[in-house]
Amino acid sequence: MTVCEYKPGLEGIPAAQSSISYVDGKRGILEYRGIRIEELATKSTFLETAYLLIWGELPTKEELGAFEREIYLHRRIKYRIRDMMKCFPETGHPMDALQTSAAALGLFYAKRALDDPDYIRQAVVRLVAKIPTMVAAFKQMRKGNDPIQPRDDLGYGANFLYMLNEREPDPLEAQVFDVCLTLHAEHTINASTFSAMVTASTLTDPYAVVASAVGTLAGPLHGGANEEVIAMLEAIGSVENVRPYLEECLQRKTKIMGFGHRVYKVKDPRAKILQSLAEKLFEKSGRDKYYDIAVELEEAVEEKLGSKGIYPNVDFYSGLVYRKLGIPIDLFTPVFAIARVAGWLAHWKEQLAENRIYRPTQVYSGRHDAPYIPITKR
Ligand code: CMC
Repeated sequence: MTVCEYKPGLEGIPAAQSSISYVDGKRGILEYRGIRIEELATKSTFLETAYLLIWGELPTKEELGAFEREIYLHRRIKYRIRDMMKCFPETGHPMDALQTSAAALGLFYAKRALDDPDYIRQAVVRLVAKIPTMVAAFKQMRKGNDPIQPRDDLGYGANFLYMLNEREPDPLEAQVFDVCLTLHAEHTINASTFSAMVTASTLTDPYAVVASAVGTLAGPLHGGANEEVIAMLEAIGSVENVRPYLEECLQRKTKIMGFGHRVYKVKDPRAKILQSLAEKLFEKSGRDKYYDIAVELEEAVEEKLGSKGIYPNVDFYSGLVYRKLGIPIDLFTPVFAIARVAGWLAHWKEQLAENRIYRPTQVYSGRHDAPYIPITKR
């Protein structure tokens, strides 16, 4: 390994072989197990897509029914987890609460049997089932309320919105939210997935794998960008202020949140679908002035930075959709995690199938043979 082979951020360096998802960043194509995201967003459901990602094939009707029943049965969380969560500070970020709670699941399901398909299935079911309940429970408990129990008669996404807002969502809201989950379920080897894979490669338990991925997703350059987008749109405040705001960002060389991507050099296909979902919601329940600001910003950024391949990414329109669904801003990234747990678990399974521990190398740039100077002489 020589210095010239070092690429900051591992840009362009293959770190794994995977058959889970595929991105063509020049043509704006995303596929899960070979199926285009547009097909899945319009024809599948989140749980069916999760099954596809994790087990590699679309389920039969019976397989999907059995998977859904198992998930619905395991949505409750143990009272001790709830009690632990009650002690979290209400000012803490929900991503930190989620990371801690996901890791704590490992305390309750401590037996690790990574070569047992039943263990793998149970871990998948528990994590997919319980993560939404934990996110919604923290939202209630930080206000001093008891968590709202899952409802057996509601589907996966509808039940989450119900536990969150104590109100059954209407069918359009439930359907839009389910599509949002499908769009965020997987995205090749991004930072949090890589984090999950590195953790998985040590053969630790799946709860630690998901907890480490949640911690990685939380950062503002990754999943946390969706929160920052809303803060930015609010700071812009009006359509007239879009171009002066952008000029200031460009002068100060600050990044415009929700734009740019390591792989996509055109508009992210998920951003296109999210934009159309936002429009569907606005048609039904009124337009959001921040949407007009967002559309103007997209146009202005394209004029200024389009030549560099800077276009809206998945985080640009997702926040506007989530806000219409009554999801608080600091829950946007936990919602991303609810979806991405499917991708993390797919990569966990794939990693286990042909595991070798991750142990890359580094280019040492420090001193050699340095003298030890006694503390009194420093
Ligand atoms: N606003 C303005 N300029 C940008 C932006 C942006 N959002 N993104 C990239 N650039 C410019 C950057 O200044 C650099 O220009 P130059 O070559 O003249 O120095 C060039 O584009 C390459 O940028 P980079 O930061 O080296 O690209 P990267 O591949 O390391 O980073 C990124 C990708 C997503 C972290 C970055 O585009 C960014 O910080 N975007 C804003 C945060 C964001 O929206 N994150 C969500 C990412 S998508 C979902 C996810 O992964 O979770």
